[in-house]
Amino acid sequence: MPQIETIKKKSIRSPFFYVGDKYKLMPQLKELFPEEINTYYDVFCGGGSASININAKKIVMNDINKKIIQLHKHLQYASKDINSFISKMYDLIKYYGLSHSEKDVNKKIEKLKKIYAKTYFSKYNKQAYLRLRDDYNQDQTNINLLYLLLIYGFNHMIRFNRQEKFNLPVGNVDWNKNVTNAIKNYSSWYNNNEITITNGMDFENFIKSANLNCRDFLYFDPPYLITYSDYNKLWNEEEEKRLYSLLTQLDKKGIKWGLSNMLSHKGKYNNILFEWSRNYNEYKVESNYISRFDNSIKSNSIEIYVTNYNNQV
Ligand SMILES: C[S@@+](CC[C@H](N)C(=O)[O-])C[C@H]1O[C@@H](n2cnc3c(N)ncnc32)[C@H](O)[C@@H]1O
Repeated sequence: MPQIETIKKKSIRSPFFYVGDKYKLMPQLKELFPEEINTYYDVFCGGGSASININAKKIVMNDINKKIIQLHKHLQYASKDINSFISKMYDLIKYYGLSHSEKDVNKKIEKLKKIYAKTYFSKYNKQAYLRLRDDYNQDQTNINLLYLLLIYGFNHMIRFNRQEKFNLPVGNVDWNKNVTNAIKNYSSWYNNNEITITNGMDFENFIKSANLNCRDFLYFDPPYLITYSDYNKLWNEEEEKRLYSLLTQLDKKGIKWGLSNMLSHKGKYNNILFEWSRNYNEYKVESNYISRFDNSIKSNSIEIYVTNYNNQV
């Protein structure tokens, strides 16, 4: 299996800092994407790291998670006047009394962070964060609050309980200059491209509803069967097979697609992927997979990119 050369090009970071995002892998993957794309379909868009780094005439985004779709729509709408959105967020940070290291002119936070490296933000922000979380759970129409929860919450994740209440604990993170930069980059990307986003559909219904042709390109980054993330709760062997059967049908229709997935990880092996993918082109990707739950890089992980079209590496 050819290995993609490590490319030191920078990619743009999405302001959602999504678990399992493709931010670091995009320079490698883009080398394998078709050179000319009419409409690009980001079928499992998550935080949108792939979409934000793509060159295509049109971009269509989808994900089954309605909360991440709601956040994208909110930032897309706010992109009309992004400075006003950012200043509203600064006001909220002040209102709740959350730390704001971007504004740390006296380097006070930086010094404390060195002393309490692993706990500083979580200890400082805990009470303010819980007030913010309660307010959002009382009235979930205020999406600025949801975005703030994502920035200050554990590992920038989005998680709701069965009663549909946001239930993540505070994280050891805060609003720094990377957040503001990522928001500004997102808004200029949105303002300079033709982007549409669905209301949050299952991948199969999304593909069925799309008017596809051979100049389009579909990128699939589903939950990985053999790794763990909160969104993997939605995934199992049946889903995996349903996806591969759809990709096989698309191939027969001459529609170009690319799929990211994990072949082996932590002693587990994805046999369904192994059997199916050998009918197509497979590339080994230099993986950055880090489990959010044990923070160690798995040297035995094999992440692959599978395509049904040819591209020179
Ligand atoms: C690996 S993540 C995608 C990450 C994304 N590429 C990024 O860079 O942020 C997988 C996504 O698939 C979504 N998902 C799970 N089941 C789905 C389904 N049946 N249809 C559409 N999306 C689904 C999850 O909500 C999650 O956002």
